[in-house]
Amino acid sequence: MKVRDSGMPDETQWESFFNPELIVEKLFGKVILGNAAEFGCGYGTFTGAIARRTKGLIYAFDIEESMVERTNKRLKELKNLEVLRRDLEREGTGLPGAFVEAVALFNILHGQDPLRLLKEAFRIMSPGAKVAAIHWNYDPLTPRGPSLFIRPKPQDIQKWMLEAGFKISGSVLDLPPYHYGIKGIKPLI
Ligand SMILES: C[S@@+](CC[C@H](N)C(=O)[O-])C[C@H]1O[C@@H](n2cnc3c(N)ncnc32)[C@H](O)[C@@H]1O
Repeated sequence: MKVRDSGMPDETQWESFFNPELIVEKLFGKVILGNAAEFGCGYGTFTGAIARRTKGLIYAFDIEESMVERTNKRLKELKNLEVLRRDLEREGTGLPGAFVEAVALFNILHGQDPLRLLKEAFRIMSPGAKVAAIHWNYDPLTPRGPSLFIRPKPQDIQKWMLEAGFKISGSVLDLPPYHYGIKGIKPLI
């Protein structure tokens, strides 16, 4: 099922809200040693920045065929990218367990079942791998973002990450102008 309130404005407007290279670097560092996954890639706003840091393959998923096509089209030169249409809430990723070193959940944890997405991320991650979520600030003045009734606060995402089995890494990151980020790690044991 499509995550509630996850429609997008046009691409140019959406991409005016972020500096993807800076955000991805703050969350995952300069290099991801191994495979990566992105849950709900949308227009592919962050996919290139993740893929270019990823030594292995990156699997980008979206429920919308139009988003899969757009991401594929803009990043066709990347040889380490697979963009797949998939309902992550219903079907999960289909990837094997302990397969990736990084998972990005950007602007998607306001859905019906955020814990389910985080548990699927946990399943496919190797011990020591990094998970990162970003979301709109909990502020009625942001120019977009889901309704405040369903918009997660940083402490909600931290709580869900802990429930899914992750350790929280560092404090809440400010990602101006409108976002924050949370990092977690899959424990080694
Ligand atoms: C608000 S957009 C964020 C896109 C991207 N992560 C970003 O921050 O630019 C959420 C995306 O998740 C996708 N999505 C919603 N429900 C989904 C589901 N059940 N499985 C996979 N993708 C889903 C939507 O189609 C949309 O492209």
